[in-house]
Order: sequence, then C-alpha cells, then structure tokens
Amino acid sequence: MNIILLGPPGAGKGTQANRLVEERGMVQLSTGDMLRAAVKAGTPVGLKAKAVMDRGELVSDEIVSELIDAELTAMDAGTGAIFDGYPRTRAQAERLDELLDKHGRKLDRVIELEVDEDALVDRITGRFTCANCGAGYHDRYNLPQVEGVCDRCGSTDFKRRPDDTEETVRTRMQEYRAKTAPILPYYEERGIVSRVDGMASIDEVADKIDALLS
Ligand code: AP5
Repeated sequence: MNIILLGPPGAGKGTQANRLVEERGMVQLSTGDMLRAAVKAGTPVGLKAKAVMDRGELVSDEIVSELIDAELTAMDAGTGAIFDGYPRTRAQAERLDELLDKHGRKLDRVIELEVDEDALVDRITGRFTCANCGAGYHDRYNLPQVEGVCDRCGSTDFKRRPDDTEETVRTRMQEYRAKTAPILPYYEERGIVSRVDGMASIDEVADKIDALLS
C-alpha cells in the first residue's frame, strides 16, 4: 500500500507516519527529514536547501523529487510507502505519478489531516524530537513516559527544529495554503482522498487512519 499524508505544518503527518511504520511496517518517506539530513551532512543539496527551509519556503521541485526517486529505488518493492510532506506542489504531484509508474507502484490513498491553523503554532513551537532516533514529542501533548528519556530508544538527548519559530511557521502555513492545498482536486478526481479530523487526540487520529487502510 502507498499513501500520501497531507496537511499543513504541525497537522501530525510525521506523528502518524511514525505510528504506521511501527504498526504496519511501512516506510516513511519524509522530504523534510531527508532535507534536514542533507543540511546536517553539508551535502550540495543541503547547502542549497538550508536558507530556503529557514525562511519556511519550499525547496525546488527537482531537488525533492530526486530525493524521493532515490529512496524508492533503494526500497524493497513489496514494502508500503508513506509520503509525508511530499508532494507539495502540482509539479511534484505529477512527478510522483511518473515515479510510482517507474517503480511499479500505485497510489492507494491520500489522507488529509484537517486542522485548526490557530492551534498549529502551539503544536509546532512545543515540539521536540529524540536526537538519537527521531521519535517525536510535545511539551504538553506528547511527553516521554519517563521525563527526559526517549520512550523508543532510551536516549536522554533531545532537539528542536530551527524552523519551528512562530514567524517561520506562519510562512510555512502560507506556502501550504497557496501551493499544497490546491493539489487536492488532482487526487479528488480519482476518488482516493479521505479526510481525518487532525484535532482529535493522536490515538483517535491513528484509529481513524487505521480504519481507512483496513
Ligand atoms: P517538513 O519537515 O515536511 O515540515 P512540515 O510540513 O511543515 O510539517 P511538520 O513536520 O512541521 O509537521 P507534521 O505535520 O509532521 O506534524 P508533527 O507530526 O511533527 O518540511 C520542512 C521544510 O522542508 C519545509 O518548510 C520546506 O522548506 C522543506 N520541504 C519539505 N518537503 C518539501 C517538498 N516536498 N517540497 C519543497 N520543500 C519541502 O506534529 C507536530 C507536533 O504536534 C508534535 O509535537 C506532535 O507530538 C504534536 N501532535 C501531533 N498530532 C497531534 C494531535 N492529534 N494532538 C495533539 N498534538 C499532536
């Protein structure tokens, strides 16, 4: 099964993708994570992307589509893919169709997480992740079970994203409204879009997604 998780910054795409990885053995393809890894490694892609990401704008369609192509090439054909944060423009959506064809895959479902944008700033500015394994947490809504210790790997080292400031989040939301939300009709024509209330609890959202994929 191949699915797209769509929604504005902070909608919970990464949180739900993590659950699907753990519970269904799917692979999460997050262009945001790939770009952050490239920035950290100082690769040519990372050097180009860093300033754009820090402003909350979109990196070029070619760069992100090449990252996705490389990941699909490396993946086992029978393993399901979760596209998290990709596609984000019409050009990326069209390119993804070509890539799925090339890799012998088909898109089963597009899940849009519907959220109240005002709540997202709070979600994003309170977010932190395990520096070792990437598990996601939140200062109020999703704390580790033992304070200061990652539930998944036991690390005590956590980090926050440089683009998780209120000002950058507002730009990221504008980019979503202007460039990403308009691609929904492209998938609606095929009858594969489902909407889930992303303001429900993390468990409730996960249950709804699970029901859609069963
Ligand atoms: P990216 O990393 O994709 O960021 P984003 O889309 O802005 O999404 P986020 O990761 O911020 O949010 P999320 O929906 O995953 O929420 P999360 O689950 O963490 O992209 C970053 C940048 O990279 C972009 O700005 C752009 O520059 C570039 N980029 C990436 N892809 C690109 C592309 N395809 N094209 C061009 N440029 C690209 O949840 C947020 C917090 O809320 C967490 O703390 C979580 O614990 C909490 N939470 C989640 N769900 C709930 C819930 N139901 N109730 C309460 N709290 C919740």
